[in-house]
Amino acid sequence: MLTVVDHPLLARAVTTLRDKTTPHGEFRAVLNDAAAILAYEALRTIPTEKQTVQTPLEETDGVKLAQEVVVVPVLRAGLGLVDGFVRFVPEARVGHLGMYRDETTHRPVDYYSNIPPVRGARVFVVDPMLATGGSAAGALSHLKQRGADHLTFVCLVAAPEGVERLHEFHPDVDIVTAALDRELDDKAYIRPGLGDAGDRIFGTH
Ligand code: PRP
Ligand code: URA
Repeated sequence: MLTVVDHPLLARAVTTLRDKTTPHGEFRAVLNDAAAILAYEALRTIPTEKQTVQTPLEETDGVKLAQEVVVVPVLRAGLGLVDGFVRFVPEARVGHLGMYRDETTHRPVDYYSNIPPVRGARVFVVDPMLATGGSAAGALSHLKQRGADHLTFVCLVAAPEGVERLHEFHPDVDIVTAALDRELDDKAYIRPGLGDAGDRIFGTH
């Protein structure tokens, strides 16, 4: 399932992130806020179980999360979504997957993996950009090989080509995004997009 999160604060954040004049410090801060809104939506279906709580006056019913949460940023740009995401679930474990896109072939190249136990957990793979879908599809396959059985892919901007690829190769994985853009250009950049997310987060452009 594809969910395009519809919220005025998120739409305003995406506008700031698309703006080429937004400096990297502001870009990081706004991306963090956008990530929190995406997390709020992506976590909507997390199961809870009953837990009693003692108020200053009496005991009453409350809830606790009934599933472990694991957040896996795809390095490097995915790091920009982690803080906003774990804001709501500070006990979440965080795995890291290093992948970059070869500039000529546009195919993902793996360079790092450090993943906590994922079997039975709710696993959120986070990366601001879903372009061809090669990196996301590779990351999801890697996590499935490690036993992940409940995966969600969370991004800021998705291209139709990437969504199609994930639907084809990972039909069991829900996608949550802030924007579904028009197309990829001949360099596999998302249009209108926001440029190179990693460079804009880390000021390396
Ligand atoms: C970007 C982005 C995704 C990937 C998306 O990473 O953060 O990981 O490209 O493209 P795809 O859907 O076509 O695979 P990039 O390779 O620029 O690396 P970086 O995060 O280190 O900047
Ligand atoms: N990676 C990015 O950072 N931006 C794009 O538009 C495509 C891939």
